[in-house]
Amino acid sequence: MIEGGLPLRGTLEINGAKNAALPMLAAVLLTDEPVTFHRVPDLSDIRTMLRLLEELGVRVTRKGSSVKLKVERTTAFTAPYELVSTMRASFCVLGPLAARRKRARISLPGGCVIGVRPVDLHLKGLRALGARVAVEHGYVEVSSPRLTGAKMFLGGSFGSSVTGTANILMAAVLAEGTTVIEGAAVEPEVVELARLLRTMGAKIEGIGSHRLLIEGVRELSGTEWTVIPDRVEAGTFMAAAAIAGGDVTFTHIEPDHLTSVIEVLQNLGVHVESTANTVRIASEGAARFKPVDLTTLPYPGFPTDLQAQFVALMTVGDGISIVTEKVYPDRFMHISELCRMGARIRKEGSSIIIQGVPELHGAPIMASDIRASAALVVAALRAKGASEIRRVYHIDRGYERIEKRLGSLGARIRRTADKAENALTSASRWAAAF
Ligand code: EPU
Repeated sequence: MIEGGLPLRGTLEINGAKNAALPMLAAVLLTDEPVTFHRVPDLSDIRTMLRLLEELGVRVTRKGSSVKLKVERTTAFTAPYELVSTMRASFCVLGPLAARRKRARISLPGGCVIGVRPVDLHLKGLRALGARVAVEHGYVEVSSPRLTGAKMFLGGSFGSSVTGTANILMAAVLAEGTTVIEGAAVEPEVVELARLLRTMGAKIEGIGSHRLLIEGVRELSGTEWTVIPDRVEAGTFMAAAAIAGGDVTFTHIEPDHLTSVIEVLQNLGVHVESTANTVRIASEGAARFKPVDLTTLPYPGFPTDLQAQFVALMTVGDGISIVTEKVYPDRFMHISELCRMGARIRKEGSSIIIQGVPELHGAPIMASDIRASAALVVAALRAKGASEIRRVYHIDRGYERIEKRLGSLGARIRRTADKAENALTSASRWAAAF
């Protein structure tokens, strides 16, 4: 429940990055020695990954935001449908299992609300390394008695793949000989994984470029690692501060990962000040934004994971904004909900046209995926009156206790039990989804 119209003020520390932590947690399967991570956010997606690792024989010890992991048993090699269907990033255990256990059986992720999400690049990379890969009964079955280095191109129709690069990188570090990945993703989360692997003893050159050169080693060792700040959480809260008005300083933030985002905020007319590890968003009241044209692209372009939240800003723009999705052409689940709050948005192919309106108004609305839900929260902070957002479990996948964090900045936001939802059995909830 959000009562809009209040400015946000104060200081907020940005958490460790979900999308950096997920593949790095999977990387512990590559060594028998303990690996400890710090600043691991307490999110349902992280808990899902830890549960999967436990099923794969990893002992998990959590203390606050630190997690110690150690492989105890190496016999399991299956990531079941139940886990992969709740979180696609479970697919990140594919590369480590193929490399270390010589076998993997991973449920094939289906499409999801943000559109078709194939895994062909992951499979192409593994095959190039010599693995036998079959897709049977909804599962990817991999047999990889001996992985050998190879040269491959991992770009696809929509650019490089973040978790695809992560998976093949994790397989190649233990393959025999040299692997060259052309078209590697350069997202900070991939860079971070490569740096972690290097600390564990992997030989990787070209980190941060589209060409990774990997010299396989026989084994990796344990280490201790602090997760980088979450650029998507940061961008979401920056959008929240901008739309609500006020004065918020974000700490533990990496402005260098947010260059395109800060530029778009400035184009929208938002005042942004940054230092090496802080960003301040300040405004006199809740202003209308300047209209902008925005295209999502792989890093360092504007991230698709912030598209929905920035569309929320544009709904109260002073003119027409155009947003084009170049990563997930169908990632527009939020627009119909935003329209229920008074926004004027029309979809044309993989673009949307937003005619800014002076005000949004509170309404009952439905969350659909992590980022679309975050966009509804951003919009509700500005809307006149109360908004009730349903299915907030989507938000909990990617934002730790969002009501506490925004509440600490002065937002009027609280979590309540969803009576309507609790009344539904899981079967009727399933039916209700269609
Ligand atoms: N693609 C292919 N073939 C593949 C893999 C991807 O065609 O084998 C296409 C996708 O359909 C998409 C594009 O390539 O059009 C990029 O997808 P990518 O593989 O990079 O996405 P991902 O690795 O599955 C990660 C994040 C997503 C984020 C995307 C894009 C994690 C765990 N997930 O997904 O995060 O949107 O990169 O940056 O890192 C989120 O956090 O809400 C989220 C969805």
